[in-house]
Amino acid sequence: MRFLAAFTLLFATACTQAGLPADEAPAVSPILSSEDAVDDQTFAEPLKARVSHVDLDLDLDFESRTVSGTAMLDIEAKDGVDTVILDNDGLAIASVTDAQGNPLDYEIGEAVDGKGAPFTITMGDAREITISYSAEDAAAMQWLGAEQTSGGKHPFLFSQGQATLNRTWIPTQDSPGIRQTWSARITAPEALTVVMSGLSQGEPEETEGGKRAFTFDMDKPVAPYLIAIAAGDIEFRELGSRTGVWAEPEVIDRAAREVEDVESMVEAAEELYGPYRWGRYDMIVLPPAFPYGGMENPVMTFLTPTFIAGDKSNNGLIAHELAHSWSGNLVTNAVWGDGWLNEGVTSYFENRIVEAIYGEKRAEQEAALSFANIEETLAEVGDDAPGTALHTDGKGELIGSAIAYDKGHFFLRTVERAVGRERFDAWLRQWFDNHAFQPATSRMLLDDMMENLVESGDEAKQLQLREWIFEPGLPDNVARPDPAAFAQVDSAVEAYAGEGTVPEVRWSDWTSAERQRFLDNIPKERSADQLAELNEALALSETGNNEELFLWLELALANRYDSAVPQAEEFLAEVGRAKFVRPLFTVLMGEGGWGQPIARRIYAKTRERYHSVTQGGVDRVLQGP
Ligand code: BES
Ligand code: ZN
Repeated sequence: MRFLAAFTLLFATACTQAGLPADEAPAVSPILSSEDAVDDQTFAEPLKARVSHVDLDLDLDFESRTVSGTAMLDIEAKDGVDTVILDNDGLAIASVTDAQGNPLDYEIGEAVDGKGAPFTITMGDAREITISYSAEDAAAMQWLGAEQTSGGKHPFLFSQGQATLNRTWIPTQDSPGIRQTWSARITAPEALTVVMSGLSQGEPEETEGGKRAFTFDMDKPVAPYLIAIAAGDIEFRELGSRTGVWAEPEVIDRAAREVEDVESMVEAAEELYGPYRWGRYDMIVLPPAFPYGGMENPVMTFLTPTFIAGDKSNNGLIAHELAHSWSGNLVTNAVWGDGWLNEGVTSYFENRIVEAIYGEKRAEQEAALSFANIEETLAEVGDDAPGTALHTDGKGELIGSAIAYDKGHFFLRTVERAVGRERFDAWLRQWFDNHAFQPATSRMLLDDMMENLVESGDEAKQLQLREWIFEPGLPDNVARPDPAAFAQVDSAVEAYAGEGTVPEVRWSDWTSAERQRFLDNIPKERSADQLAELNEALALSETGNNEELFLWLELALANRYDSAVPQAEEFLAEVGRAKFVRPLFTVLMGEGGWGQPIARRIYAKTRERYHSVTQGGVDRVLQGP
């Protein structure tokens, strides 16, 4: 049985994609019409009228932190529909015209917090619309002054679209279920190079006014959160025949060395789950203000420089963003409440790439860290908390990364261990093939497993598929990590917790996952003397690995360790990665009041250096500004 009855596809042209050759993508991808695929974070009504292509012609003005120019949209609409609704969060609209330049009526409705406002255009018969607009200090964009770069001479710009920020700089339908092809021409000051999440269309051209124009094209339909831009004084280093990395000249050598395995990662990923369909896979290592570890912008993964450790120990990040080229970018959650379809499937896939490139031991250790995160989180929020189901309505409290990422990872791992790798891998590969360039829901994945993986009703029951996806908590068939993965560390933790003996093994012989496990599991309450002793023995404050440095600073600040404050302050002044910054402010703001004035003093200086995503998170912690 096929479960197509559960959803119908609009735009019949897109119905038969399974047969497309791997290097081809449909021009228009379907819009799902089932109820569980309705995105309540967009104002768009794509079943009536949808954007199918976006053509941007924009100028970057670093003085006024403004992008301005035009967006030309191709629209597909049902017969008789004469309006189209876009998302607009703060865009200043100058005009809307049809292909002949005739003005079209439009209206910007009432704004809703975090969602922007509906931007309704009366298009009549027009199916090509040009919007002239500007976006000043858009929330998606971070405009860095030269002092926030390594070079210190030129400004820098990057955007972060996921989840709903692209509507602050692009007037389109900003929903992951509405895929669009796009193209762009971007002008920027001469000293800067522009990259985007589309293929570059050749050398930049000089324009009047001493600027350069860069052109890009994305001919495969993508969810609009994946349109991204960065501009700075950056340099390219080739790594393989279809891979390379961009970074500031001061960073490029370290960056290129850290990610030199990327071409073999792409090969390993293809070996696992089918062809890489996007042409090139390049990366850009951004200044440390970037609010995430990485972002899977197609053909141009965006990365924090804080993953560079000198020993590739944080390269799970690269595997992760690469894996999104299948889970996320090729097959995309139709709604953010099904974010695990992007992040959980990717976390599983990431672990398989890590296993292929760095070996089984490292993969199993990283999986064990992921599992510990599930257990810690469930202990904290309760394993009947509704937000601990993989599928959520997207309205509840966000429960960190433990559910979408780690529970999602362990769901697939559990199924894989139960049915065997051969069957599982064949299933996952066909999932990507048959839903390539299309949106998906939890229900579709469950139906697909029933149809293409599970061999009997009995097996379905044993796998507990429905429970995994739709029920809170952790089903009892979970494929736990091998306890041997951290046997050595766990006994070192025990010894330290008991007699207070700092591990005798040489810290530097441990893997980074082992060190993180140790720092995560030792007793949380430590005296200043104990912290000093720990730091003395393990040189924690001198580690070149920022994941470890973060764990050390968090432990130290949670214990009001004055000596750690200057280093924490330095770290917070430079790094804008929310995963590090938010928890450090959180421990400073903890009970007792010791750290609160410190947090306020630091944040008064650092807030303006953070991306709006990080600001939003820290504002909530400090209940300001
Ligand atoms: N797509 C995410 C980043 C993201 C998630 C942006 C939600 C906006 C909203 C990216 O692929 C990611 O998961 N990054 C992680 C990497 C890690 C899990 C290896 C990060 O930034 O820490
Ligand atoms: Zn991810």
